Amino acid sequence: MASPPTPQTSSASLPSSVFTLPHTAQLEALYTIIRDKNTSRGDFLFYSDRIIRLLVEEGLNHLPVIPKTVETPTGATYEGVGFEGKICGVSILRAGEAMEAGLREVCRSVRIGKILIQRDEETALPKLFYAKLPQDIAKRYVLLLDPMLATGGSAMKAVEVIMEHGVPEDRIIFINLISSPEGLRTFCTRFPALKVITGWIDQGLNEKAYIIPGLGDFGERRYCS
Ligand code: URA
Repeated sequence: MASPPTPQTSSASLPSSVFTLPHTAQLEALYTIIRDKNTSRGDFLFYSDRIIRLLVEEGLNHLPVIPKTVETPTGATYEGVGFEGKICGVSILRAGEAMEAGLREVCRSVRIGKILIQRDEETALPKLFYAKLPQDIAKRYVLLLDPMLATGGSAMKAVEVIMEHGVPEDRIIFINLISSPEGLRTFCTRFPALKVITGWIDQGLNEKAYIIPGLGDFGERRYCS
């Protein structure tokens, strides 16, 4: 029997703002399925959704709580906790939209904004094309959703936009399935107070800025057969 995987990256080499999921055999099996080029679209949807759910749950673990006392049906009191503030999601189109359902499954009636960023053909820099954000976003914690952190360009632009709407950096949590080490480094250097929840940190980027080994184009795999 194969032994369970050991953590792939020692926490010592990660910025303190980066959190990965525990690399159990279960999680590695899920990633093996979604990385496999022969996996059907149906299975890709199902298994990537399972990972997204785990990531969202982990993201919620990083929200602050305050003491809360409730009375149980037995008449006893229970001294627990409640979430301190309100949250919202912001997905980076189009791939980030695939993570919205996972957030809705665990946060009922959560508000979700959308940001579209594309490469500006003249400057080659990421450019904001569209943003629709909850009008009270400045008062909320923001879960930023994008499945692949490659160069980090789109995610950094998205964070800029969210901060311009009044959200402090330390109230944003970026959730993704796979990161490149270089993208993660650039992103965390630029936004050291922002937490990143990533499922897996891969080897690096190829010349086309695809993550290696990665899973290919997440949007293509998710939305096209
Ligand atoms: N976006 C993807 O979908 N895949 C990559 O490998 C990099 C960015």
